[in-house]
Amino acid sequence: MQLLNLSDAIGVKIRGLDLREPVDEETFSRIRRAWEENCIALFRDQHLDEMDQVRFAERFGELGKAVNDLDPLKGGSHPAILYVSNVRVNGKETGILPDGEMFFHSDTCYMERPAMASMLYAIEVPKSGGNTLYANGFRAYDTLPDNVKTKLAGKRALNVYDYAGAPLTRASVLPPDVKCYAHPIFRTHPPTGRKSLYVNRLMTWSIIDMDAGESREILEQLFEHQEKPEFVYEHVWRPGDAILWDNRSCLHARTDFDPKERRRLRRVTMLGDKPYE
Ligand code: SIN
Repeated sequence: MQLLNLSDAIGVKIRGLDLREPVDEETFSRIRRAWEENCIALFRDQHLDEMDQVRFAERFGELGKAVNDLDPLKGGSHPAILYVSNVRVNGKETGILPDGEMFFHSDTCYMERPAMASMLYAIEVPKSGGNTLYANGFRAYDTLPDNVKTKLAGKRALNVYDYAGAPLTRASVLPPDVKCYAHPIFRTHPPTGRKSLYVNRLMTWSIIDMDAGESREILEQLFEHQEKPEFVYEHVWRPGDAILWDNRSCLHARTDFDPKERRRLRRVTMLGDKPYE
């Protein structure tokens, strides 16, 4: 097994492993450490069926059940499997997040215990676009000016799930029953002890106990900071790519793509703990 730098911004590329095969404890510890330190791990040229993916992902922790109020067409043979897909059968979607660009976010950050990690495996990808961007949250935190770190220390921000299938559209008023949770703006990453900047353009609504105008202004500055190109890696998918990312330390986003082209990836998520500063 070889561990290579994926980009200057973020990530490790892990070569020489067939994820269908059992991974011994020592190898697994090296993978886990490299992934935790680098926020994302890329494995190329894989041939994973649903259960291969489940077995590998389970080594990292208990898997979350795919959101079960969804059409079963979007899931797989195991309750943790969910497809991210724009393929439609008789007009019906066969996956979540089918179309278009998505802003940066961290999976399920609107829940008390957001997903620790997510793993996507590419099955069909468009000729261009539909790339996934990964932004390094450790770097974003480390490079914040000291006065911003001081001002926001101990503060929490409200994350909401309000985009309901139209991720680029924000409502101007939150629905009363919206799923939301306030988490520390600076989040400690338990395995490394490092802090990451834990807000995001897609789901972070406001800073708790702060005037609305000031909160909007500061959040916009934080979003611009964490999305700087030097913190971001853009992944151009090939079928057979598997990427595991750490939702505690990085954000991800997606570039636009031609809706007439098929894009189908298989996703599992791993359960996480309550974030703390
Ligand atoms: C996701 O946000 O989980 C999907 C990312 C992608 O489709 O590239």
